[in-house]
Amino acid sequence: MVAASILIDKHFEIGTTDPRLFGAFIEHLGRCVYGGIYEPGHAEADEKGFRKDVMALIKELGPTIMRYPGGNFVSGYNWEDGVGPVEKRPKRLDLAWMTTEPNTFGTNEFIDWCRAADVEPMLAVNLGTRAGDAARNLVEYCNHPGGTYLSDLRAEHGWPEPHNVKFWCLGNEMDGPWQMEAKTATEYGRIATEAAKMMRWIDPSIELAACGSSSRRMPTFGAWEDTVLEHTFDHVEWISLHTYLNNYAEDTAAFLASADLMDDFIEEVVAIADSVAARRLSEKRIMLSFDEWNVWYRTRRGRANRIKEGWPIAPPILEEIYNMEDALAFGGAVISLLNHADRVRCACLAQLVNVIAPIMTETGGPAWRQTIFFPFADMSAHGRGRVLRAQVKSPTYNAKYYDPRNTQDLYYPVNEVPYLKASVVANEGGGVTIFALNRHLTDELTFDLNARSFGKLSLIEASELHDGDLKAINSKDEPERVTRRSLEGVTVDNNALRATLKPLSWNVIRLAEA
Ligand code: AHR
Repeated sequence: MVAASILIDKHFEIGTTDPRLFGAFIEHLGRCVYGGIYEPGHAEADEKGFRKDVMALIKELGPTIMRYPGGNFVSGYNWEDGVGPVEKRPKRLDLAWMTTEPNTFGTNEFIDWCRAADVEPMLAVNLGTRAGDAARNLVEYCNHPGGTYLSDLRAEHGWPEPHNVKFWCLGNEMDGPWQMEAKTATEYGRIATEAAKMMRWIDPSIELAACGSSSRRMPTFGAWEDTVLEHTFDHVEWISLHTYLNNYAEDTAAFLASADLMDDFIEEVVAIADSVAARRLSEKRIMLSFDEWNVWYRTRRGRANRIKEGWPIAPPILEEIYNMEDALAFGGAVISLLNHADRVRCACLAQLVNVIAPIMTETGGPAWRQTIFFPFADMSAHGRGRVLRAQVKSPTYNAKYYDPRNTQDLYYPVNEVPYLKASVVANEGGGVTIFALNRHLTDELTFDLNARSFGKLSLIEASELHDGDLKAINSKDEPERVTRRSLEGVTVDNNALRATLKPLSWNVIRLAEA
């Protein structure tokens, strides 16, 4: 048995979670849109073609903001193709995923879907094959009230009211050679600045996110952020981060430790952003938008995983099937995000349905929850409030995490990894939630929580996500093989708590304060 402790004080906090921390991502990729959120003709489709069964699961998942339409896709996207009469919209080759894009779903349908799902829309503009002119036109089309060609065109298309989209991404992963018209940091910094200026001249209320590195292991990481922010600092509020955790090495301990590298990544980007501010004697603080994060590796490598022959429409690609082990690594990432709530004020789980997603569907068939659904839903439901600066004391282990850079094999040392990874949130409506991951491969972990300066606490609910088989998955035929169960044996005495967590388990303990 492993023993650990957590000390919290209600006055010691990291920051308050921004609702945008609980976002997700819909890309025109595989069956995310077509056959995912949108499937006209499905028995569960509403009059707009939105799947109601998928919508019900999304509401249970609880995303707050939705990034769209890409991803790699956006770097070749003509937004004009996706508006206006559907029968007149062109089919186009999409060079991001080597598919045919039918354009039967576009910006206006996305906005309608967001309103139905009760999420804030986040739009990315194409700064790959296009630049500032197309971007500013999209802002005018979406947000200008009326009386101009583009705003009147929106009305003519059936949406007289402005969409008022507030959050805009200036392109996607522009540092990546896989991107259509990838750029150097200087090229991107210049184009992003000019696009940002015009977009904001049209609508001063918008917020803009510059592309950070597409991962921490890009050879240009660090220098990219520095140069891009040197150009864009006065024109953006946000810089983006992307991370996909992997278990290529089939090393559970290292995989579960890998979320801790997200902590390092976040802190490094904060340091770079603040050093750009320091050089200008500026008090402005650029916030972090972790607008792609997840576990992704099985369907990442190999052409067959990413590309189907013959330019198909919405083929099943990147349909990662998540197991129990993935949910644990994912839970670690949830804790990393919560514990940086002061600077990571927006984050998007990539993606939402079918494509590296918490929700799977069968075209024409049912929808179900993948294992990673649960830590995300827990975070969104119970992560609202003040994240406390918890002092976690736990025995540790060392690991080597395999994270390749292009074709180069790279192992990152991850040292002093606490078996207990935890975050504690003083919730908006009162009470406290503890998110706790036991990373020990074989042993139970007992921790004592000392909730200093809190009144008398009582247990509302304690749940665990655990399966004796780390490779256990949910499927159409067994949709609830991996699900939350009650965590037994939690004792609360005044403002102290003791809980015992199963080895390799994700746990959520909710307390009320008298
Ligand atoms: O989410 C899948 C892809 O991963 C996105 O299109 C891209 O931005 C990233 O490389």
